[in-house]
Amino acid sequence: MPSEEIPPKNLILIGFMGCGKTTIGRELGKLLGYPVVDTDQLIESKAHLPIPRIFAERGEDYFRLLESAVLQELSAPGADRRIISTGGGIVTRKRNRQLLAQLGFVVWLQIPAEEVLRRTAANRQRPLLETDDRERKIRDLLAEREPLYRRTAHCVIETTGLDASEVACGILETARYHFAQNLP
Ligand code: S3P
Repeated sequence: MPSEEIPPKNLILIGFMGCGKTTIGRELGKLLGYPVVDTDQLIESKAHLPIPRIFAERGEDYFRLLESAVLQELSAPGADRRIISTGGGIVTRKRNRQLLAQLGFVVWLQIPAEEVLRRTAANRQRPLLETDDRERKIRDLLAEREPLYRRTAHCVIETTGLDASEVACGILETARYHFAQNLP
């Protein structure tokens, strides 16, 4: 779909760890010719530290402060036509949820706990999942966050069984429809 059919808005991807925000963000960037911005990468450059070390040395609260600061910076007026991929916990702060909704079209990539477990099994870069009972942790965090993702997103895409290009095409189709309905 040509990008001129999508209004000059950002497309924002939210969802739990392992749902494919980064991969699908890149795919959307290719399809639309928009730059792809990743809040986790911006946090790492701001802190000059990788995420596991931010958590280990400064704690989760400090990470959340940086995450909110990065989101605030991305919300500067006039900045649009970007794909913004976010960290899975960005929706836990109310102010972040408001900013996300103002930034553009927000898509929740929904994923069940079993799939998160499978996709993150070999990954040691997510401090919140470094617990004795990873499955329990995933289920607890998902239960807390799903209502927040649902409340923040303009659309929900269940990604299981679809490849990145199928998900990206689904998102563009839904965005086009959304804007056709909601533009003045
Ligand atoms: C987090 C998700 C991570 C990263 C940090 C915290 C979370 O991003 O922001 O480890 O709270 O769910 P991904 O969702 O890209 O893994």
